[in-house]
Amino acid sequence: MSLISAITAAQRLDSRGVFKAIVPSGASKGDYEAVELRDGDQKTYHGQGVLKAISNVETIIRPALIAEKFKVFDLESIDGFMRKLDGTSDKSKLGANAILGVSMACARAGAAAKVGFRFLAVTKFKTEAYRRKDVPLYDFIRLLSGTPLPYVMPVPFFNVLNGGMHSGNSMAFQEFMIAPVGAKSFTDAVRMGSEVYQELKSVLKSKFGGSAIGVGDEGGFAPPISRPEEALDLLIEAVERCNYTGKVKFGIDPASQEFLLDRFYDLGFKSSDSKKMSSADMQSLYHELIKKYPVVLLEDPFGQDDWESWTEFRKTCKIELVGDDLLATNVTRIKTAGEKKACNALLLKINQIGTITEAIEAAKLAYSYGWSVFVSHRSGETTDDFIADLTVALGTGHLKSGSPCRGERVAKYNRLMDIEQELQTRSVKSSYAGEKFGQTRSV
Ligand code: PGA
Ligand code: ZN
Repeated sequence: MSLISAITAAQRLDSRGVFKAIVPSGASKGDYEAVELRDGDQKTYHGQGVLKAISNVETIIRPALIAEKFKVFDLESIDGFMRKLDGTSDKSKLGANAILGVSMACARAGAAAKVGFRFLAVTKFKTEAYRRKDVPLYDFIRLLSGTPLPYVMPVPFFNVLNGGMHSGNSMAFQEFMIAPVGAKSFTDAVRMGSEVYQELKSVLKSKFGGSAIGVGDEGGFAPPISRPEEALDLLIEAVERCNYTGKVKFGIDPASQEFLLDRFYDLGFKSSDSKKMSSADMQSLYHELIKKYPVVLLEDPFGQDDWESWTEFRKTCKIELVGDDLLATNVTRIKTAGEKKACNALLLKINQIGTITEAIEAAKLAYSYGWSVFVSHRSGETTDDFIADLTVALGTGHLKSGSPCRGERVAKYNRLMDIEQELQTRSVKSSYAGEKFGQTRSV
């Protein structure tokens, strides 16, 4: 029978050397994210241990879930039950890290229970009721969320220059990403992105010397630069040297909440010289960058409560405008942003909300507004590749998982290449999102 009979949990390292089950963690976290429980015992792992969350899984969630006799493929009921068991709006009682670990494991168990897949296929999507010996996670979640076929392989946004809270240089903006929109396939995009990354490494070495090629939290380089134009000029040079001009576009995540103080954005917050900018100054800066460089995506250009600036900027912004700290993968925040017309894309981080079911709901709500959905890792990431399957399952058309460097980053890219190959072997129709990375599901 496909019932849950056991659940175990244990502490494991994430890429920042602190502990989680299989759940990641951020550095530039927003205030509206679900709460991850940390032990706070300074004698152990500087207070970052997660033994309390582990204990919550083993002594509260496990016995309660097993007693309910849920079918393993009934993820909506399992997640709903855990939300009730927690009883808080931000999962602060049991911990989003405890709940999400179980939710992800149950999704995998659901995919492994073939009877569950057939159940979903027959009851919800009669036309797709094909029988397979193995059921991949991306198909299980696709059926659960009602994503239409054909499959869409995403454009990878590689974060190749790290600043902000993710590195020790003085650059205020957190992420500069390259997106091989002109690739033929996902696998081809990984090749192009890796080539540009390696070329960038040579450019940096010749300009700044060997110490400039050390990497930040997400595997991008962290050279001694501070202005966004310097970063974008470096990317232009690396792309040109690879002959990919026009085929590789850029994305920027300033993660501006980190340098917002008293209504001013301080671009000098990591150096001794402050460089305070008003919202109007920031809007002009973004417009200039978008005009001068092939920037196709801008995330968190304003703070998480600076609704006015978001709404005003969206009126004239012609590119994808992604809400991360602004939305926190939370349907209430997404609804507010929808009413205020604050952005046009959702950044989807599963640990910001704490269950897979709620992450799916958040994505569907964003799609219902005609927005795009951009799946994301965290800066403190694990080698778990769950979000690769999630991206294909929801047909989001793009994701960010850092540079083509560091095991926890490449795990997702490698899994996506496996999925692409598997779809070819299965002879099912799939396409690479390419230039249309943001319009795969818009209504
Ligand atoms: P975080 O940052 O994982 O450190 O919160 C990632 C982001 O801002 O997108
Ligand atoms: Zn962000």
